Amino acid sequence: MKKLIAANWKMNPASQKQAEDIFNGIKEGVKGVAVEVVICPSFVYLPLLKGLTLGAQDMFWEEKGPFTGEVSGAMLKDLGVEYVIIGHSERRKYFNETDELINKKIKKASETGLKVIFCIGETAQERDAGKKNEVLEKQIKQGLAGIDNLENINIAYEPVWAIGTGNNCSVENTKESIDFIRKFVKENTRILYGGSVKSDNSGLYIKEAGANGLLVGGASLQAEEFIKIIKSAE
Ligand code: 13P
Repeated sequence: MKKLIAANWKMNPASQKQAEDIFNGIKEGVKGVAVEVVICPSFVYLPLLKGLTLGAQDMFWEEKGPFTGEVSGAMLKDLGVEYVIIGHSERRKYFNETDELINKKIKKASETGLKVIFCIGETAQERDAGKKNEVLEKQIKQGLAGIDNLENINIAYEPVWAIGTGNNCSVENTKESIDFIRKFVKENTRILYGGSVKSDNSGLYIKEAGANGLLVGGASLQAEEFIKIIKSAE
C-alpha cells in the first residue's frame, strides 16, 4: 500500500500569502514522489490551495442546518477536499470531543465519501499508569463502532505527550503500539505515526516501526523540511 504523508497545519500560518507560499513550495518539491501527500490547512485556506490533495482538520456530523460555526462533510466534498482528520487530541482536549462524538463524525465522513485520518493516542498520565493499550483499544472500538467498511479509514497513532514537544516516541514503542492497533483494523488499513516528526527521525518510523505513513504538525509548515520527510518515506 502507498505510504500516506499528511501535513496538519493546525491554526497556522497567519495569512493567505504564507499559506500559498508554503503550499507552492511543497508542490514544487514533491513532483513525481511515490507517496501520497495530503495537506490539511485551516478551513479558510482550503479553497485557495490547488494542485495537491487536500484534507480538512475536522468536520461536523450533520449535512446542513442550524449549527453555527460548523462545516459539513458535504461542503468539504463540494470543494474537492478528499480527506478529513477526525479525533485529533487537541480537539479532544480543548473542545471536549468524546469517542461517541468522534464516532458520529467518522460515520458521516465515510457516508460522504471522505477519507478519514482518525487520531488516537494516550496522554503521559495514561502511559505512566500502564494504561496505554487500554486507552488505544477504547478509542478505536468506540470511534469505529458500527463502521464495518474500513476502506477509507486511516489511523494516526499520536501519543499526546509526543505532540509539539520534540519528544518523539521511540521506534520500539511506536512499533509495539502499531502492532497492537493492527489487531483491531484490517491488514490493509494504513496506520500512521504522528508526534514531533522531523526529517531526521521520519524514515525510521516507516522503515523500522512499520508505520504506513506520518501525520506531521510543526515540520509541515516548512516546505523544505516537509519535502525531506516525504522523501524519507519513499
Ligand atoms: P507535531 O508534529 O508538531 O508534534 O504535531 C503532531 C500532530 O499533532 C499532527 O497531527
